[in-house]
Amino acid sequence: MNHDDNEEETTMTDTSTLTRSLRACGSATVLAAALAAGPALAANNNDSGDSAQSPHLAVTESDFDKTPQGKQIERYHLTNRNGMSVDIITFGARVQAIHMPDKNGKVADIALGFNNVKDYIDHKSTYFGATIGRYGNRIANGKFKLDGKTYHLPKNNGPNTLHGGTEGFDQKVWAASPIDTGNTVGVELTHFSPDGTMGFPGNLAVTVRYTLDNDNDLRIHYSAVSDKDTVINLTNHTYFNLAGAGSGTVLDQVAMINADQFTPINDTLIPTGKLESVSGTPLDFTTPKPIGQDIHADNQQLKYAEPKQGGYDFNWVLNSDGDLHKLAVRVTDPKSGRTVEMYTSEPGVQFYTSNFLDGSFKGTNGKTLGHWGGFTLEAQHYPDSPNQPNFPSTELKAGQKYTQTTVYKFLPE
Ligand code: BGC
Repeated sequence: MNHDDNEEETTMTDTSTLTRSLRACGSATVLAAALAAGPALAANNNDSGDSAQSPHLAVTESDFDKTPQGKQIERYHLTNRNGMSVDIITFGARVQAIHMPDKNGKVADIALGFNNVKDYIDHKSTYFGATIGRYGNRIANGKFKLDGKTYHLPKNNGPNTLHGGTEGFDQKVWAASPIDTGNTVGVELTHFSPDGTMGFPGNLAVTVRYTLDNDNDLRIHYSAVSDKDTVINLTNHTYFNLAGAGSGTVLDQVAMINADQFTPINDTLIPTGKLESVSGTPLDFTTPKPIGQDIHADNQQLKYAEPKQGGYDFNWVLNSDGDLHKLAVRVTDPKSGRTVEMYTSEPGVQFYTSNFLDGSFKGTNGKTLGHWGGFTLEAQHYPDSPNQPNFPSTELKAGQKYTQTTVYKFLPE
């Protein structure tokens, strides 16, 4: 994996500009202005689109679709010299497609998605490929306390708030500009979330940078600044099916999760607050095993996640412990040879086996997306951390910088 930190340095510069602006005056107007300057800041990244030095590494922009309100949605198409490509759209700052050759060079789209905005809106609860915010996963009973004040959030998942509330970052149109650093291509997306959005405190300026290189590393770097103390937990919600989206279940694909513990849940999928060992449970993926091997096991946790047929939908406590150099997850499709590895700065991962997909709709390529038709690897802080004093904190202090980096590495190269 390429651990070149140049991208982070560039982003830090961008964010420190935002931070300085915030410190200078702390006003939403300045924050918005700093965000509006986003494309200018991104221009420092040599966004000429000129990939002459390495002909296969390129980023191109095209029209994707319009929102029902008539807003144009753009698509950024990133390619590398290995025949891999990633499509990012500005609706929800989301991964719309990932085309990957198999061991024989046969290319398939391995990310579940749609080819139009209407489907992304009609099936918004899938969160296909989306940037999730302000808070990935659940906050119990739609409330939390910060600095002595209780904040109320809209409940969109039984009694709880899921993925930032009824209208999260996945439903927003993000501003975007291309990145071409010479050895990476990508797109930088920015969004301004006003104080009180979905009940969360603070004007929040958010940047998400996707970059692809010739080592097949898709790197996602998030940064954010708020003008009030707040909570934040950003992640990406791509569903992978390494055999190709719509080609059946992922039950034969082999997963390794580098985690000795997980955060057990109650019947509304809220963590109990304990960390428990995976040893002797169906959640033990420390040794690689097919995703389907234990999915039908008679286990209360699996039943909470998917009451009818079982399924995974848990937060694993990663042994990699925020170290981007340590492997967190690897999933391989033995038939195609395609593999995805995840490296992350985050302490946890939500491994979710698309338990709610029921085959009632079709994805990008017109193929039906059925039960267990994909898996997500959502790098994250633990669910409900704002209400769980023993979990690593998700608090972001006013004027300080939030960052998150996750790398999905695809094989064969
Ligand atoms: C959650 C699932 C939820 C899904 C929504 C996942 O991140 O853990 O419980 O159903 O997102 O698409």
